[in-house]
Amino acid sequence: MSEAVQTGMPGGDARHPRHPATDPPVLVVDNLVVDHRDRGTGEVFRAVDHVSLRIDAGASVAVVGESGSGKTTLAMAATGLGVRGDGDIRLLGHSLSAIGRTQLRRLRPEVQVVFQDPHGSLDPRQSVRSGLRELRSLQPQRTAWTDDTDLLGRVRLTPEILDRYPHQLSGGQAQRVCIARALLMRPRLIVADEPTSGLDVSVQADVLALLRQIRSSTGAALLMISHDLAVVRSLCDVVHVMYRGRVVEAGPCETVLVAPEHEYTRELLAAMPGARWRSRR
Ligand SMILES: Nc1ncnc2c1ncn2[C@@H]1O[C@H](COP(=O)(O)OP(=O)(O)OP(=O)(O)O)[C@@H](O)[C@H]1O
Ligand SMILES: [Mg+2]
Repeated sequence: MSEAVQTGMPGGDARHPRHPATDPPVLVVDNLVVDHRDRGTGEVFRAVDHVSLRIDAGASVAVVGESGSGKTTLAMAATGLGVRGDGDIRLLGHSLSAIGRTQLRRLRPEVQVVFQDPHGSLDPRQSVRSGLRELRSLQPQRTAWTDDTDLLGRVRLTPEILDRYPHQLSGGQAQRVCIARALLMRPRLIVADEPTSGLDVSVQADVLALLRQIRSSTGAALLMISHDLAVVRSLCDVVHVMYRGRVVEAGPCETVLVAPEHEYTRELLAAMPGARWRSRR
């Protein structure tokens, strides 16, 4: 029997225990296809080409690939976040094609996305405090569990920033606020879409360490989207390598990042010598 991972504050949130070893997978995607229309030429092209992936409860899965390979499209379609595709998607045990809007809305808080540009993700007219208050009013059931000071403490921010507006926050602080807002929903899956590539190099490692710590303390699964294999190596157990809409290689990081089978993965690794897998212990 696995030990429950308590979500939330020190002392845990006994109402929502997590059992990563026995909970069902958070996401199972089978043969997902997404077509986009080119904004310039008007032609339809395939952005995601028969991709399958699975994210077990509490797991940490990466999608890597060059710019334009389809990573964001895959993540947004796979989680039902505004991009439609064909294929079989099961989110927290629910088939996305079979559930209605109301049910999808109910599932929505379970998946939280942390984007590349933290300032762009925050409403410039809202202080941190009023942004959190609004979230609480939208999801009172999920968010009554902790106060703002405790929540900010979890992302290593002090309460002084509560009355600041986004433009008064550094990139690292703004990203921590975004992570706190995501945490407030007690998600089962955090999608992190290049969460550090818009940040100063000096704070990138801190934000990655924070994500790692949050993952282990909350039991949330992580879908990490990155073009950086070093980031993936530091945070993820499984990696999917995407190239032109297809997953060309997938497997445990210690396999794919040590003995890549696909030429494209080898090229990515050659371009980032520090990214080769080695034990994190
Ligand atoms: N809504 C859209 N409409 C039309 N084309 C789109 C749309 N979103 C993305 N694309 C195109 O689909 C392809 C895949 O885009 P996507 O954003 O998924 O790539 P990505 O791997 O996330 O890239 P990046 O690393 O730059 O974020 C690109 O050619 C992009 O221009
Ligand atoms: Mg992207």
